[in-house]
Amino acid sequence: MRHGCHDAQAEHYDERVARHLGDYIRENYFGVLDRVIGCAELAPGQSVLDIGVGTGLLPERVKVDVAYYGIDISGSMMKKTRSKGLQLRLSYGCFQAIPFREASFDRVVSSFAFHHLGPEEKERSYREMDRVLRPGGRIVIGDFMFQDEKQREDLVGTFESEGRKDMIEELNEESFLDLSHDVPLLERLGYAIEYERLSTLSWVLACRRRSGSV
Ligand SMILES: C[S@@+](CC[C@H](N)C(=O)[O-])C[C@H]1O[C@@H](n2cnc3c(N)ncnc32)[C@H](O)[C@@H]1O
Repeated sequence: MRHGCHDAQAEHYDERVARHLGDYIRENYFGVLDRVIGCAELAPGQSVLDIGVGTGLLPERVKVDVAYYGIDISGSMMKKTRSKGLQLRLSYGCFQAIPFREASFDRVVSSFAFHHLGPEEKERSYREMDRVLRPGGRIVIGDFMFQDEKQREDLVGTFESEGRKDMIEELNEESFLDLSHDVPLLERLGYAIEYERLSTLSWVLACRRRSGSV
């Protein structure tokens, strides 16, 4: 199974999220999803791509009549989404090679999926998201992030003092986005960036293409 693929978690994913909202990983999970949709500022008729759509917790929150597309590397997670009867089109696909043509979408959104990619894959994925985005479009990512290495070290210190070996392992195994590295990279690609911290680990990064607006 490909790294990051959630086939094994699909059956109980939604229940597990709801049960662990009090712990670091799921802290304010639904608040992050709501903020991703809010920052996307969707308008009727737009086309939206959700990468790592999972069980559809993000599209469940969309109240605007948009053409919503979801891709994922887990067939089982998408099967769960299909069972919810949401208005969206699902297909197999990944961040690193998005299976759509240039300038296909007004918005690219993603929640809690990007941390499965290493730094080089992230860089490639930004170029892919940029490729499928229309001029004036937006990329909005909600996920685990650090402001910089100093903030990461502070968190390790907190987890050590709390005896949370599991969280230190999590920090070492997954690739949380480093804002001090990725924000300048996105700015060089032509985006104006805003970001906001919504829990101990989770942030929302909103990237607006500088040329024109949709
Ligand atoms: C933690 S779940 C989050 C799902 C959903 N976006 C949410 O917020 O509840 C991460 C999802 O990303 C998918 N995923 C992991 N790596 C991926 C990649 N490289 N490209 C696309 N999807 C990926 C997993 O299969 C899984 O469904």
